[in-house]
Amino acid sequence: MPRLVVVSNRVAIPDPTGKGSAGGLAVALKEAFQAYQGLWFGWSGRVSSHPSPEPKMVDKGNVHYALMDLAPIDRQEYYNGFANRALWPNMHYRLGLSEFSRADYAGYLRVNRSFANALGQMIRPDDLIWVHDYHLIPLAAELRALGVTNRIGYFHHIPWPAPEVFGTLPGSRELLRAIADYDLVGVQTDLDADNLRRAIVQEVGATQQGVELTTANGHQTRVKGFPIGIDVKGFQQLARRPPTHRIVKQTLASLVSRNLIIGVDRLDYSKGIPERMEAFERFLVANPDQRGHVTFLQIAPTSRSEVPEYVSLSRATSETLGRINGSLGEPGWVPIHYVTTAYPRSVLANLYRIARVGLVTPMRDGMNLVAKEYVAAQDPEDPGVLVLSKFAGAAQQLTDALIVNPNDKFEVAEAIRDAIHMDRDERKERWRRMMKAIQDYDVSWWAASFLKDLSDYRGMSKVRSRI
Ligand code: F6P
Repeated sequence: MPRLVVVSNRVAIPDPTGKGSAGGLAVALKEAFQAYQGLWFGWSGRVSSHPSPEPKMVDKGNVHYALMDLAPIDRQEYYNGFANRALWPNMHYRLGLSEFSRADYAGYLRVNRSFANALGQMIRPDDLIWVHDYHLIPLAAELRALGVTNRIGYFHHIPWPAPEVFGTLPGSRELLRAIADYDLVGVQTDLDADNLRRAIVQEVGATQQGVELTTANGHQTRVKGFPIGIDVKGFQQLARRPPTHRIVKQTLASLVSRNLIIGVDRLDYSKGIPERMEAFERFLVANPDQRGHVTFLQIAPTSRSEVPEYVSLSRATSETLGRINGSLGEPGWVPIHYVTTAYPRSVLANLYRIARVGLVTPMRDGMNLVAKEYVAAQDPEDPGVLVLSKFAGAAQQLTDALIVNPNDKFEVAEAIRDAIHMDRDERKERWRRMMKAIQDYDVSWWAASFLKDLSDYRGMSKVRSRI
């Protein structure tokens, strides 16, 4: 049986208690690992003053996990620094927040090289290698330099910005050269694919034929959209289970006859959380009859708390929250409930089902799986309404959501009002169409179609045939 080698910054080892909240990628790869023998390589999440150049091996079922520790300087430069202070804001169109440092970039390249050195020794000739996300763009180039000729695919989970935006980042041309070393590059939307192909043509001088690009050294790569999906059936089942968790019971009890609006996001500036709170404030100001009748629950687990921009965001969000609750709240009714705890998926599924409105308004997002999970969790006979940002990749598929521009608080406030007043027939009709979209393109479709495309790859490059 061929082996699937997955490489990602974070590695999700199954939780033996079964209680933990499995990450999106772990859910996505579950089925793929049933069809292949598996090796999952990446960062252990640990920092050590003397990290070993060899990974620590952990075996679970048919998957072997190979885990690398990072030195404190590596975590700082590679993860906090270049990946999350330079690449992340650039790719989310937040140039004002993008902080480039040569030391961070050198650290990013160094960690990619050390991962390639460790992984290169474990690769077998017919392994299919699938690398994930922006932390690891140079990995294929580093593996190629070691003589690895296997098929290597890359999936980019976040947006790929317009070439004019990506081009502002020092090192961008080198990264584009590196990405062209993959055999297949998957992105979330057709727009992302178009942006990336244009950048490779303009900056690397590749020639393009449809989705296929050929670089000056003869290497061929393909750049295509593979919108990531969710495990629709699994999530539906979770949402249908009777609520047993204290949090869900307390939420239900606190609502009485109130409508619940829900937002669930990592605490990240790309998610538009303070902007969303202000849109809800606008809604309450414009619709005073709704005061006391609607509650907005925002769940926002703290994220990347060593990165200064996230510390500022946390402060700004708390300030916005305090101001709104202070000015509009009344004894017995708090307009916005805000929690920074990460809840298990089963709790989120129950909460989505009881929420009349799912408010998913990122300023920019690769896909946004919360939007899809909210749809999957609904009761078909009395579904809620999804309000969705036009800048989330999911908006390309969920066209029956109420699509909004998150930069316009008035527009979002009006959509909240429309969602609350929407009649049952219209809610059912919109939900039915959105449900079909997420069922047709679920997570099994995503993993299987990417891997099929990568396994069928026949465009052996001149460079590789010379090796
Ligand atoms: O999808 C983007 C992403 O960076 C994933 O790679 C990651 O698992 C998730 O967001 C959470 O971010 P972090 O790993 O920095 O906590």
